Amino acid sequence: MTVISFQEHFDEKIDKDQTIEPKDWMPEDYRKTLIRQISQHAHSEIVGMLPEGNWISRAPTLRRKAVLLAKVQDEAGHGLYLYSAAETLGISRDEMYAQLHSGKAKYSSIFNYPTITWADMGAVGWLVDGAAIMNQVPLCRTSYGPYARAMVRVCKEESFHQRQGFEIMLNLSKGTEVQRKMAQDAFNRWWWPSLMMFGPPDAESPNTENSVRWRIKRFTNDELRQKFVDVTVEQAKILGLTVPDKDLKWNEERGHYDFGVIDWAEFKNVVKGNGPCNRQRLETRKKAWEEGQWVRDAAMAHAEKRKARKASAASTLAEANAA
Ligand code: 3HC
Repeated sequence: MTVISFQEHFDEKIDKDQTIEPKDWMPEDYRKTLIRQISQHAHSEIVGMLPEGNWISRAPTLRRKAVLLAKVQDEAGHGLYLYSAAETLGISRDEMYAQLHSGKAKYSSIFNYPTITWADMGAVGWLVDGAAIMNQVPLCRTSYGPYARAMVRVCKEESFHQRQGFEIMLNLSKGTEVQRKMAQDAFNRWWWPSLMMFGPPDAESPNTENSVRWRIKRFTNDELRQKFVDVTVEQAKILGLTVPDKDLKWNEERGHYDFGVIDWAEFKNVVKGNGPCNRQRLETRKKAWEEGQWVRDAAMAHAEKRKARKASAASTLAEANAA
């Protein structure tokens, strides 16, 4: 039997498209980029609850309120699956929260934009969750086992999120002139930030090359962005909405839509913390963390008590058996 190095064994598993599990040896850089991506993905889910949470008490009907409530609750669940997946790599929940609250960790730029009208709930579901699905379905086949398995359930729920958003936009687009205008206004504000969700252009992405080599990413940022544009432009036609991009044009030769230049200065500015809602989002998250301290203390006290009860029951049993 030839003795191969841990690295060769890892490379062999990646080349054979096998998943890497928590107990497997993995290169430190692989572990680090997974912790970075998965924890930031989890932060995005949790912060992503805020823009929509803003409309739960103002939803136009009880049905809309119930659907939005279910969606926002789903995002919390997505965050928990992803924090748990990241913990299997050796980082604690508290460390991840500290990185988010200190501003050290990133979360998706898209959640730093305000949700101004009810139509934003439609645009966020349709475009943001639509972009999330485009980016997350390939992650169901990412090379790290716990991440891939978390993604399977997340993607099932994302499809409901995208559909409920599209339905809101469809109802508005078939409504009054004011409602149609509200839908178009939301589309105009959310279109470009949704394209930015896929990350910087491949040529400026420091992580994509390794992530593709390690099969963390199955497609590059630009490839997924293009897929999203091609699909969403057709959906906009059904809604009778105009894509806010004067350079958008079908390119027969490429078999894709050509689209205008993305404002990467805006993207970098928002990622740096200067978006319309960055400060508010982080303050809300920190306030929730501080106000939730008593819940964590009570849960820990309860767990300690249960542990003590179990230990005393075990020692009583041991004494009884010994007698
Ligand atoms: N917002 C904030 N930061 C971003 C970003 C964005 N939209 N896109 C990229 N960045 C950051 C990256 O984190 C990286 O910074 P870092 O090295 O300090 O972490 C830097 O910009 C360069 O970007 P890269 O393309 O090199 O980084 P990645 O290879 O990590 O690719 C990504 C970026 C495509 C977002 C990838 O991290 C990814 O697929 N993440 C998992 C999915 C995810 O987070 N989706 C978006 C939000 S989740 C969501 O929308 C849920 C829905 O239910 C609401």
